[in-house]
Amino acid sequence: MKPIQVGLLGIGTVGSGVFNVLQRNQEEIRRRAGRGIEIAMVADLDAERARSIVGDKARVVGDAREVIANPEIDIVVELIGGYGIAKQLVLEAVAAGKHVVTANKALLAVHGTEIFKAAAEQGVVVAYEAAVAGGIPIIKALREGLAANQIQWVAGIINGTTNFILSEMRDKGLDFDVVLKEAQRLGYAEADPTFDIEGVDAAHKATIMSAIAFGIPVQFDKAYVEGITKLAATDIRYAEQLGYRIKLLGITKRMDKGVELRVHPSLVPAKRLIANVEGAMNAVVVHGDAVGTTLYYGKGAGSEPTASAVIADLVDITRLIEADPTHRVPPLAFQSHTLREAGQDLPVLPMAEVVTSYYLRIRVADEAGVLARITGILAGGGISIDAVLQREADEVGGEGSTQTDLIILTHDTREGDMDAVLAQIQGLPTVLAPITRIRKEELN
Ligand code: HSE
Repeated sequence: MKPIQVGLLGIGTVGSGVFNVLQRNQEEIRRRAGRGIEIAMVADLDAERARSIVGDKARVVGDAREVIANPEIDIVVELIGGYGIAKQLVLEAVAAGKHVVTANKALLAVHGTEIFKAAAEQGVVVAYEAAVAGGIPIIKALREGLAANQIQWVAGIINGTTNFILSEMRDKGLDFDVVLKEAQRLGYAEADPTFDIEGVDAAHKATIMSAIAFGIPVQFDKAYVEGITKLAATDIRYAEQLGYRIKLLGITKRMDKGVELRVHPSLVPAKRLIANVEGAMNAVVVHGDAVGTTLYYGKGAGSEPTASAVIADLVDITRLIEADPTHRVPPLAFQSHTLREAGQDLPVLPMAEVVTSYYLRIRVADEAGVLARITGILAGGGISIDAVLQREADEVGGEGSTQTDLIILTHDTREGDMDAVLAQIQGLPTVLAPITRIRKEELN
């Protein structure tokens, strides 16, 4: 069957990510969505740059309206940004009966009510997972995963640029301007970076989350917005001495008399997970009456993380167009006819094939040559040592003890190789107790 035809309006940082990820993962995406998804047309004012990204894989035009007018296009992806022409084009695409995917938080925070109404009248979807916290599926979590709850509050680090600036200023003592330039170079910042540093971008996102959390219209004009430009380095230091970090938070809370909606620098206890979210990373904490506190963490900006969310929306809409309505989301994520047979080309590996690193604790006789023999056996088995710690015998077995513990951290190795080596070490007469092995995961 012909793939779903997508028209991209704007192919900058996020657009090129969408194109590249769709190309790279096309087979996997087709198996999930039930039909291929293909960028057929791209509209960008810089047609030459657009062509250098898509080559001959998509038709490049200078006029976005050519994409909207093309009856072959099923879904329009708006990645122009801002409230101006983007609004006009989204409304025109909706009026033309196209589904729309957008990453445009400014547009939805200000004009969302009008846009969603138009979409409902036309029977099309306007999907926007990428508009809040980039690659983190927070819209899906709030709208679907937490549907049982009365949401009580949402608080998030939802602007990567400002979090990057605050982290770099604190860690490296760098100046605000230097760090801002670096954030722009890395593609985190908005076209107009005052939106980032003055808190406007975070307020757009908080406004959208507030609407979803509490069932109220988007009301950006009611948000309190304060950025980080007046924040002094001395306050970051004093806060730290008192056990706090300063983070730019977007907060929305359900109170007796109404809803709080605000963005401003906030002291957060250093021991909270969210206080340790560094660099351009985003995190959103949601408190629901049934579920309690939940935390969502990940990259909130950048080319492919944001593309990840845009493509998730493309998959959702494709499933909507394609799927049996009783199974819109396949129970195991991939369309059932594309599931692999158990063991076929992607088997679950036996434990002996698993690769991980290890912590080993070996109780040994405190004699010359014991450590050398053990490290020799590890080396002979091709296992590389990361760190070794030898405890004092007195500390381990008390005054006059002749036993001690050797603690060894290894680099990654196959479990099967480790089994063989540990069997040899365990057999040494100077090893006095069963060896303790704990697998180590860096998760980086
Ligand atoms: N400028 C935004 C940020 C990009 O820094 O988080 C993602 O919305």
